[in-house]
Amino acid sequence: MSKTKTAFFCQDCGYESPKWMGKCPSCSSWNSFVEEIKQKKGGSAPFSKNSTDAKPVVLQEITKNVKQKRKLQDEELNRVLGGGIVLGSLILVGGDPGIGKSTLMLQLAIKDHHKVLYVSGEESESQIKMRAERIGILNESCHILTETNLEAILNHAKQVQPQILIIDSIQTLHSSQIDSAAGSVSQVRESTASLLRYAKESDVPTFLIGHITKDGGIAGPKVLEHMVDTVLQFEGDRNYVYRLLRTSKNRFGSTNEIGIYEMLGDGLRPVENPSEILVTNSDTGLSGISISSTIEGVRPFLIEIQALVSSAAYGTPQRSSTGFDAKRLNMLLAVLEKRCGFKLGTKDVFLNIAGGIKVDDPGVDLAVTMAVLSSNANLPIPAGIAFAAEVGLSGEIRPVNRVDQRIAEVEKLGYKKIIISQNIKGLNLSNYKIDVVQCTKIGQVVKTVFS
Ligand code: TYD
Ligand code: MG
Repeated sequence: MSKTKTAFFCQDCGYESPKWMGKCPSCSSWNSFVEEIKQKKGGSAPFSKNSTDAKPVVLQEITKNVKQKRKLQDEELNRVLGGGIVLGSLILVGGDPGIGKSTLMLQLAIKDHHKVLYVSGEESESQIKMRAERIGILNESCHILTETNLEAILNHAKQVQPQILIIDSIQTLHSSQIDSAAGSVSQVRESTASLLRYAKESDVPTFLIGHITKDGGIAGPKVLEHMVDTVLQFEGDRNYVYRLLRTSKNRFGSTNEIGIYEMLGDGLRPVENPSEILVTNSDTGLSGISISSTIEGVRPFLIEIQALVSSAAYGTPQRSSTGFDAKRLNMLLAVLEKRCGFKLGTKDVFLNIAGGIKVDDPGVDLAVTMAVLSSNANLPIPAGIAFAAEVGLSGEIRPVNRVDQRIAEVEKLGYKKIIISQNIKGLNLSNYKIDVVQCTKIGQVVKTVFS
C-alpha cells in the first residue's frame, strides 16, 4: 500500500511546504505549520459536474428525517444530551485529568444495556476490568479494546458493530497515514475526521474523551470542537466529591443543561436533587452564610454562599472568591461601599460557594451581598430565608429570569421566606404558600432580614 502524501501547511495563510518550518516565509507567523494529508490525484473536485447527486430542494418539500434519540440509563447524561443520544452523533467529553472522564464513560458502557465498544489507549485490559468491577458490571455485551491505531480500531468497530462506540482518549490515537506523533494537531484532527465519517456512515453514536490544556480548552486544534456535534465539559473541584457535566455545544438540544454527579467509591452517582446536598444546614446560627435559589439550564436548585469579612491585617485588603466571579464580587463590594454606606474598603473579603461548584447566574448577587453584610456585622441571617435577585450598580434590586421556578424550589425545601425584586411580570403570589418579599433597595432587604 502506498503511503498517503502529506505536506505541511501554515494554519494562518495556507502556505505549503514539504518540511516543517518554525516561521512561515509567507506570513511570518511562528509555529503555525501542521502536517495534513494532501488530496489524492484524481479525487473528485468539489464542484465537478458529476461529483454529487444532491440537488437544491424547496424547504417545504424536505421530509423530516429526525434521527431518533436513544435513551440512556443515566438520566443526567440524557439531560445534557438534550433528552437522549442521537444516532450517528459524535460527542466530545473534555475535562481535567483525574476528574472522572474515563469513569463516566466506562460507567455508561457497563451499566447500560446497549452493545458498547470501549476503546482505551490509556489503560490496560486488566486495569479497566478492575475499575469496572468496582463500579459493578451489569452489561453483558460490553467489549473492551486496548488499541491506539485508528485504522485497526475502525476495523474492529466494523466487526463488532456496537450500538455505542467510546474512545478514551482521542489524543492517544494515531493514524498510520500521518508520520507525526500521537496527540499532535494533525493526528488528532485526522482521527476525529475518520471517526466522524464512521459515526455518520454507520449511525453509531461515538463518544471521544479529550484532554484539556492548561488554560482549560480542549487540547488539540480548535477545529475539533467545530467537527463534533456535541461538546460536554466534565468539571468540578477534585477536592470535592461533586462533578458537573456541562454542554458547551449541542447540535441536538440546548446548551445550558447541567448534570450533577457525586464521585463515590463505586463510581459516579447521579444527583437527582442537588439542593439537598449543596445546602449543608440551614440552622447553624453562624454569620456570613446565605442561601440563593439559582438556575442552571432548566433546573433550579439552592446553593449556600459563605462569606468572611475581617479587618485587613496588611495595608492592602485581600479579596478572594471561589466559585463566583472575582470581578463581580469587587463590583458588589463597591456598590455596598458607595451606594449603601458600608465601610468595606479596609476589610479582607473571602467568598466561597459551598460544595466546590461554580455559578455564573446573576441571580445569586443578592445572596452574595447579604452573606458579606452578615459576616461584616457578625449577625447571622435567620434560618429559612433565601434570595434570588440581581444587584445593579446603583444598589437597586433587579429581577432575574424564571423567578416562579426559583420560588417553587425554595418552597419545596421548606423555607419560610424568599426575597426577590419588584416588577416581575406575570408573577402570581397567590400560587405560593411561602412568604415572598419584593424589595427595591439593598437597605430595604437589610431591614427585612435583620429586624
Ligand atoms: P478517571 O475516570 O480515571 O479520570 P480521568 O479519566 O478524567 O483522568 O478518575 C479518576 C479518579 O476518580 C481517581 O482519582 C479515583 C476516582 N474514583 C473514585 O473515587 N471512585 C471510583 O469508583 C472510581 C472508578 C474512580
Ligand atoms: Mg482517563
